[in-house]
Amino acid sequence: MSEDARQKDQPTMKAMRQEEFGGPDVLHEVEVPRPKPGISEILVRVHAAGVNPTDWKHRSGRRFLDDPPYTLGWDLSGVVEEVGLGVTLFAPGDEVFGMLPYPYGAGSHAEYVVGRARAFVPKPDAIDHVQAGAIPLVSLTAWQCLVDASGLGEGDRVLIHAAAGGVGHAAVQIAKARGAYVIGTASAPKHDFLRELGADETIDYRETDFVEAAKDMDVVLDTIGGDNQLRSLETLRPGGIMVSTVPVPAEGLQEKAAELGVRAQCMLVEADHAGMQAIASLVEEGKLRATIAQTFPLTEAARAHEAGETNRTTGKLVLTIAADDR
Ligand SMILES: NC(=O)c1ccc[n+]([C@@H]2O[C@H](COP(=O)([O-])OP(=O)(O)OC[C@H]3O[C@@H](n4cnc5c(N)ncnc54)[C@H](OP(=O)(O)O)[C@@H]3O)[C@@H](O)[C@H]2O)c1
Repeated sequence: MSEDARQKDQPTMKAMRQEEFGGPDVLHEVEVPRPKPGISEILVRVHAAGVNPTDWKHRSGRRFLDDPPYTLGWDLSGVVEEVGLGVTLFAPGDEVFGMLPYPYGAGSHAEYVVGRARAFVPKPDAIDHVQAGAIPLVSLTAWQCLVDASGLGEGDRVLIHAAAGGVGHAAVQIAKARGAYVIGTASAPKHDFLRELGADETIDYRETDFVEAAKDMDVVLDTIGGDNQLRSLETLRPGGIMVSTVPVPAEGLQEKAAELGVRAQCMLVEADHAGMQAIASLVEEGKLRATIAQTFPLTEAARAHEAGETNRTTGKLVLTIAADDR
């Protein structure tokens, strides 16, 4: 078969692409060849895909990836279409959810995506694809901050910044599931939401200095960065730990931590099969749910970016992709 004929027979898919950095409108729909799963990979028909701050940061040029063209998106929930050589975990037809390897595995803002099989776990029956597409990146981030980096356990006191946001609202639920005492920051209208998630105390960060209101913390999860990282150290008990999802440390962070006798780490989320299994278990036990702020069809990804860039989202933004989930 000639190359032309082969290309004509190859199935295609819709994907959101950008060829340059810029505002939301650099995102546009393209028809591209459907990828094939390689060794240890699966091809997933994407039903829903979360939109995260890293999507609009990459879109506008604050990025870890090389220059565009890009198809962004790391979160997804969908159905296995095809498995690559050596895959034992899944078979075509299985419902799965997970996070593609960050940052180099992006591509879930499309009808199909290929990813490492072990980036995924079975989707719990208790949740639909929209829920499942919202959960992986923010929950893995919260899990890796609170559990892997901090060892958060029963009775520990944890301060969670931006507790109504994507990472924050997953973190509050994960911390409560581990028996911690949770203090969350948000603007006042979101405090009922934080209490519904299980927060024991709330701080209106616009009116109250969190350093005055939160003392003797074992763990702080920072999602704000800069001065917020430095000031968060002042809330910790000696030996406590602050983990920040803003990967660039504030100037003097380690020096200040050493002076105070506390620890500080800046993290980047990693695709993680064991973490996804723990997250799926919490979902099955009814201890973890995503709050869906808004859904958008794939082709309106730009509108989802605009909504996210307000930095006021409560819970998660999700793209609905397969026709049956629109
Ligand atoms: N390192 C990593 O691997 C990693 C992974 C995930 C996320 N992140 C980063 O973590 C950050 C948060 O992500 P996200 O998904 O949670 O974002 P998000 O959902 O867009 O966060 C929106 C929330 O932030 C709150 N907020 C904004 N400024 C605040 C402040 N000064 N104090 C307290 N709350 C504040 C808003 O609440 P109000 O309306 O009440 O202000 C809103 O509910 C982003 O910068 C993201 O890039 C990094």
